[in-house]
Amino acid sequence: MAQDDAKRNAAAAAVDFVEDGMTIGLGTGSTAAFFVEFLADEVADGLLIKGVPTSEATQRLAESHGIPLLPVEQVERIHLTVDGADEVDPHANLIKGGGAALLREKIIADASDHMIVIADAGKAVDVLGKFPLPVEVTPFGFTITAKKVYDALSATGVSKPNVKLRELGQSGAPLVTDGGNYILDCACKAIPNVRETAVALSMIPGVVEHGLFINIARTVIIGDDDGAEILEFES
Ligand code: 5RP
Repeated sequence: MAQDDAKRNAAAAAVDFVEDGMTIGLGTGSTAAFFVEFLADEVADGLLIKGVPTSEATQRLAESHGIPLLPVEQVERIHLTVDGADEVDPHANLIKGGGAALLREKIIADASDHMIVIADAGKAVDVLGKFPLPVEVTPFGFTITAKKVYDALSATGVSKPNVKLRELGQSGAPLVTDGGNYILDCACKAIPNVRETAVALSMIPGVVEHGLFINIARTVIIGDDDGAEILEFES
């Protein structure tokens, strides 16, 4: 599949940033999984790194591929994090959380010396917001929080947002994140003022974290069928 080739090419290019001795944040999702697999090949060839997974799924994947992991409580420094994204804008701002791992992903990425985003070309957009923005909320009071989220989006310039609780498949039951929370998916079409929206969402009691990653990524690697383009940003 062409999209998988593009994801694989972006992931392969990120491996060049890995050095012996690094502690590496391991992202979540299909693109990040390609990176984990490439990294495992390097580890098998003698590369000495430790991984810090951003989800239970990535932990299982990394363990099954023989990547040594460090419990997050023992982490002193994360040199590099490599993760996918649902959207990337021209300033390296991101929407993340399509895989419901945004809280751990943001904690690890923000604590890293260097975050690299790997994505297929379809994820690159001029304005964030076509992909519904995931917002992680506490189960307690989530309907109240959902109204506040709607108000915050509207007040910061999103036109007619649609805020929906994410369900687990067709079950009708709410999806529960690794941290025991719910996800509100906010269809926005466009988020014209990402910083203002991020601040407004962060101020709502009940919002644990939101999927806007602003000024966190320093390198964006966009893959396509033929290879990958590497873009560097100031952080
Ligand atoms: C998980 C994420 C993923 O990085 C994002 O959903 C992209 O996934 P994929 O690489 O499968 O397209 O944010 O919470």
